[in-house]
Amino acid sequence: MTCQFRCGNACAHEVPNTSDNAYFSDILTGALSRRGALRAGALGTLIATVGVAGAAPALAEPADPAVEPLARGHQKNGLRFAPVAPNTRDVLTVADGYASSVVVRWGDPVLPDAPAFDFDNQTAAAQAKQFGYNCDFVTFFPMGRDRSLLWVNHEYTDENLMFRDWSTGDTATVEEIKIGLAAHGGSVVELERARDTGQWKLVTKGRRRYNRRVTAQTRMRFSGPAAGSDLLRTAADPRGTTVYGMLNNCAGGTTPWKTVLTAEENFNQYFVGGNGVPEAQKASLTRYGVSTTTAIPSGNRRFDRVEERFDLAKHPHEINRFGWIVEIDPFDPDSTPVKRTALGRFAHEGATTTITRDGRLAVYMGDDGRFEYVYKFVSKDRYIPGFDRHNFSLLDEGTLYVAKFTGDSPAAEIDGTGKLPSDGGFDGSGTWIPLVSGDRSYVEGMTAEEVLVYTRLAADKAGATKMDRPEDIERNPVNGAVYVALTNNTNRTAAQVDEPNPRAANKHGHVLEIVERRNDPAATTFSWAVPLVCGDPADPATYFAGYDKTKVSPISCPDNVTFDAEGNLWISTDGNALGSNDGLFAMPLAGPERGHVRQFLTVPVGAETCGPLILDDQRSVFVAVQHPGELTGASPDAPASHWPDGGSSQPRPSVAVAWHKQGKKIGS
Ligand code: FEO
Ligand code: CA
Ligand code: CA
Ligand code: CA
Repeated sequence: MTCQFRCGNACAHEVPNTSDNAYFSDILTGALSRRGALRAGALGTLIATVGVAGAAPALAEPADPAVEPLARGHQKNGLRFAPVAPNTRDVLTVADGYASSVVVRWGDPVLPDAPAFDFDNQTAAAQAKQFGYNCDFVTFFPMGRDRSLLWVNHEYTDENLMFRDWSTGDTATVEEIKIGLAAHGGSVVELERARDTGQWKLVTKGRRRYNRRVTAQTRMRFSGPAAGSDLLRTAADPRGTTVYGMLNNCAGGTTPWKTVLTAEENFNQYFVGGNGVPEAQKASLTRYGVSTTTAIPSGNRRFDRVEERFDLAKHPHEINRFGWIVEIDPFDPDSTPVKRTALGRFAHEGATTTITRDGRLAVYMGDDGRFEYVYKFVSKDRYIPGFDRHNFSLLDEGTLYVAKFTGDSPAAEIDGTGKLPSDGGFDGSGTWIPLVSGDRSYVEGMTAEEVLVYTRLAADKAGATKMDRPEDIERNPVNGAVYVALTNNTNRTAAQVDEPNPRAANKHGHVLEIVERRNDPAATTFSWAVPLVCGDPADPATYFAGYDKTKVSPISCPDNVTFDAEGNLWISTDGNALGSNDGLFAMPLAGPERGHVRQFLTVPVGAETCGPLILDDQRSVFVAVQHPGELTGASPDAPASHWPDGGSSQPRPSVAVAWHKQGKKIGS
């Protein structure tokens, strides 16, 4: 069921990446040694704050680049909580000593004049004013100590859980389809702190002047080098500059100038008529996972029955107008969201910003598909704190790169079982291959506009490394390294394993750690390692950075990551293939406890854990509990979950917050 509604049954179809890019590690040119690779990007004792909030920090040079950077030191990690045991309970379970509450649920009023939620009498007009479905990315914009705005993505809809007797998009009522359109997008809501605790609550009274709903029908504009391109022009928008709505917004990011970056992911599933596009467009459609032989793919929501633009046979370019990073100003509810074309077009999973050593903005991005790629954008100009009019154009000009990873062990030692090679680690070096800078394309045979609109095809030509579903990518504010969650890839065969993706039939996923040269996000070379190969710790194919596996929590399908103030990695999961519920985990990255994974919370039946977000004061952790009750066979008459309201209620995707009962920092 997850497959049908979230990604249009992607797994049941051919993998869209049929490029002949290498699976095996290429032999390292120049025989870069392991020590040399470390020197190329070593972190040393590190470092200053590199978070999104500050100006460019002066990063220290590594003290001794020959020493393995991330294992050195005995840094205190501050993690003291007892792990939550794997379970299949239909509740949000937090570690002992913590409390949790629901902040906002599907259907809760967002705009002050929104009607109360009524499951059996829902309307599109009500939904457009209420909190949308399937909450994903969450981010926080403090307004003083006790007030804040919360941004939340609404990735997709589960129509068969939202409506009684729903069977397909073909037979859905027009009103149901319109509710679906209105339940996508995102929300801005105002929160207030509950007394002096780590708990936050939805503000439900008063003007709430910033509260906003963005939907699949909100007017947006294009900016950057591909805005106005022929490839973005349609009958309704002959100039190629205006588009309505955003689709399947999964993870995201926050800019230093306090705007949201929200990532359109599996947009391909919303269109019909792929068999009717001009012949010349078919290759690009196929590469983006759209059938060019079927008029109406099974499971399609049939938005085209309400808005003809979703029929590619009639409007072949409409799909090119989705799959972007969208920037939204949460402090201006009348602002027009902007699709930033300089960041490329693919199944964007997230967009994490950080500042380069010379003050420019870097954005890390994953393309969440089997055998897809890792990307980075670096702005041409510098970020200037306080000069927002300038900063607001930073994402329109810069260079888009794709990652190529090279292992440092002989290919014969990477056998697909997860067995470590003789040098003791899955690791190596890498390069960021430039694809496009402004109007200049680096890809032979493709214009800059084509590179930006058909980024996957450009990355194929550039020889990028095919990864196991690159999801969230985030930079650690303490050690400066960049962490990539690779959710899984059961399609990878033993013949296709390589050192960065070392396990065949990778059911449980892994985490990859990138150390940019000179710890500079603008670098074009890096070293990397795999500190975590997920699964049941009793399974010899798993690896927990060398930590004692009898003492770690089982973990499967890492999806989103974040950090606490000590630089510990927090990982949320999606699709736990070990038979228990998804959850949130913490893992120290430094010192003797590197690899000591512990589960902090579990989410209810059928849900994945999104977010996560640890507030700067370390007193609260937010998670988005997406698609509770999303199990095959579930329906409103037979719900698989009753979370969060309990009893016989319908499940409602919701954002929750957890805090320590004595006000201690998260993880204590
Ligand atoms: Fe929307 Fe890649 O998870
Ligand atoms: Ca190695
Ligand atoms: Ca995700
Ligand atoms: Ca996910």
